[in-house]
Order: sequence, then C-alpha cells, then structure tokens
Amino acid sequence: MKPRPPAGASSSSASAVPAMLRPHLARLTSFLIVFAVGYSLGLLSSSTRPSPRPSQTTLTRPHAAHLTDASSAVPASNATGASASATASYPRSPPHDLFRFREECGEPLPKDAVIPTLLDKLFDGESPYAGFPPAHTAALLHPASARPRGWGSTGAVFAELIESVRPAVIVELGAFLGASALHMAAVSRNLSLSPAILCIDDFRGWPAFRDRFRRDVPPQRHGDALLLPQFMANVAAAGGDGDGDAAARVLPLPFSTASALAALCGWGVYADLIEVDAGHDFHSAWADINLAWAVLRPGGVMFGHDYFTSADDRGVRRAVTLFARVKGLTVRPHGQHWVLSPKPPRRQGTAGAR
Ligand SMILES: C[S@@+](CC[C@H](N)C(=O)[O-])C[C@H]1O[C@@H](n2cnc3c(N)ncnc32)[C@H](O)[C@@H]1O
Repeated sequence: MKPRPPAGASSSSASAVPAMLRPHLARLTSFLIVFAVGYSLGLLSSSTRPSPRPSQTTLTRPHAAHLTDASSAVPASNATGASASATASYPRSPPHDLFRFREECGEPLPKDAVIPTLLDKLFDGESPYAGFPPAHTAALLHPASARPRGWGSTGAVFAELIESVRPAVIVELGAFLGASALHMAAVSRNLSLSPAILCIDDFRGWPAFRDRFRRDVPPQRHGDALLLPQFMANVAAAGGDGDGDAAARVLPLPFSTASALAALCGWGVYADLIEVDAGHDFHSAWADINLAWAVLRPGGVMFGHDYFTSADDRGVRRAVTLFARVKGLTVRPHGQHWVLSPKPPRRQGTAGAR
C-alpha cells in the first residue's frame, strides 16, 4: 500500500515546498516578482550598442624615459603582434626636438653680408629685380603702385619702432603686395637708415582671396596668383619714384614662413625688428612667432598686426598672449598692432646672436 500523500499535495505547488519554507512562501514569492521586474527593466534601459572592443593598437603609457628620448622606444623586433608594434612605432609623445621650437641658430652673419648671402643662396647671386619685369609678365600685372593695398600697413607703430630700434635688418612675415614693406622702407629712408627688409611670403594669398581684392591683384594665370611679380613691380616702382634703393634693400623671400625662417636660422641671419602678419589662425601665428623669435637679435623687437581687428580672435591675439606668458614678456597693444617687449640678452655661455 502506497503511503498517503499529505492533504492537497497532488494539486497545489505549495505542497511541494518544504514544510519549513511554507510560512515564508508569500514573502519569497514577492521577492522573486520584484527581482524579475527589476531585472527586466534594467535590461530594457541599458544601451543596445555593443560595448567597445579593446583597440587592436592600444598605446600603452611609456616609461618616463620614453617621453624624453625617442631612441628608447621598444624596437619592433622585441614586440609581439600588431598592438606591440604600434606601441613601438608611435610613442605617445613626439620627441622633444620635434615639438619644441628651435631657439639656437647659426653663428651670426655680419649685417652687411646678409643681402649678398641671400642673393647667392636664393637667386644665383643676381638681384631678382634685374631686368624685371619681362614684357610677358608686365602684360599680366596691374599698373605698379607705390601705395598698394594693405591692412594697417602705415600705422604709427612702424615709424615708432624703426626710430627706436634703428634696425639694420627687418624681417617681415606676410608681405602681400608690399604695402607695409614699402612704408618701412620710406620711414627708414626719412631717418637716414637703409635696413635690409626681408619679406617672407609664399605669395599665394589664401583661398578665394581674389574675390575681395579683384581691383588690387592681377588675375591668376594657370593657378599662379601672380602676387610675387606684382609685389616686385610695386617695389621697383617705389624705387623709381625716388625711394632710391628700395629694390636693392626690399628682398622677397618667396617661401613658406616656416621654411624661410628655418633657413635664416641655419644661415645665421638675424633681424633687429620682426613684423608678423602672415597666417592669422592660432597655429600659424603660434608657429610664426616661435620660429621668428629664434632669429630675433637680443634687444630686438617683434610686433605684428591684428591684435584689435576682426581677425584678431581667430588666434593671433591668443598666440601672442600665450607666447608672452611663456617667455615672461609684456604685450603692448598699439592701435591694431601688438608689440612685445624687447628680446632679453642671451645668458652667458650660449651660442647665437649677440
Ligand atoms: C595680411 S597679408 C600681409 C599684408 C602686409 N603685411 C601688408 O600690410 O601689406 C598676409 C600674407 O601672408 C601670406 N602668408 C600667409 N600664410 C603664409 C605662410 N604660411 N607662409 C608664407 N606666407 C604666408 C599671404 O600670402 C599674404 O600675402
């Protein structure tokens, strides 16, 4: 005979629960319901995007030595797999010699050797104005102007600084049609000075600039903006108008600011006065100011345009302000221009311009 099941055991699930749990059954059931609802809500509210997979080329934090010495990067042959070789070939921080601006330049050239040296290095020893302009180029240009289009190019700051610094060498970053260069030549002449005025410009302008200055610049020819020959025509015309040696002293350096400044630095060409007016975004202005500082003679002055113009907050003012803070200099606003305090003398025992 089969033993008799407890009452209701065949029809009720509660009867399957051990007797000791039966008093807690109601509480247990509510807990399970709350847990199930909570779990489902949690699942629904969580992101449906898959969690990111660990990168195949994760860069690991290098040792401190790695930050200061590129040669300490792990050689690829010691590394295993894509992750390791990526770590080896992409140090987290670039080598200092690449991301720091050069501050030491070559042994200074005598001032009267500057123009002959640049003619040798850049123009095969001949003035670029010799025989300029040939007829086929002249036909493409606007009539030369001794007062070409510029921006704040005759501001009082030029005369003030030329008078106080009495420069033998001026470097201008951003020359366009020569307005500020010709003004500096004229001011210098009035003070019986004849500085070399080295005008660094790639003479490309900037994208679509001709839309705004059609009356001032020649029409482009096969993609060439023709700013260099127009600049030279303007300088040559200023010479013809009685500014005597303008063409002999105002020399175009038709390259990017970075490459030209690196070359001047290597050749030991230093300036007493530097005007910065090329690229107006932060990165261009920051690079130009830092690169040009290396070729500024101690005691020399750097200044530039666009401290208080519509272009200033694109980056020029912020680059100038940051540079002054880093170097412990002061910035003196001057109309639309900025002027940095003179470059301090070199510390004893370091190379470069004296
Ligand atoms: C505002 S204009 C210079 C105006 C001139 N200082 C004046 O007042 O007549 C700027 C010039 O910088 C040049 N420029 C801009 N970025 C440059 C770069 N990275 N390298 C060389 N020239 C650059 C342009 O070609 C343009 O002619």
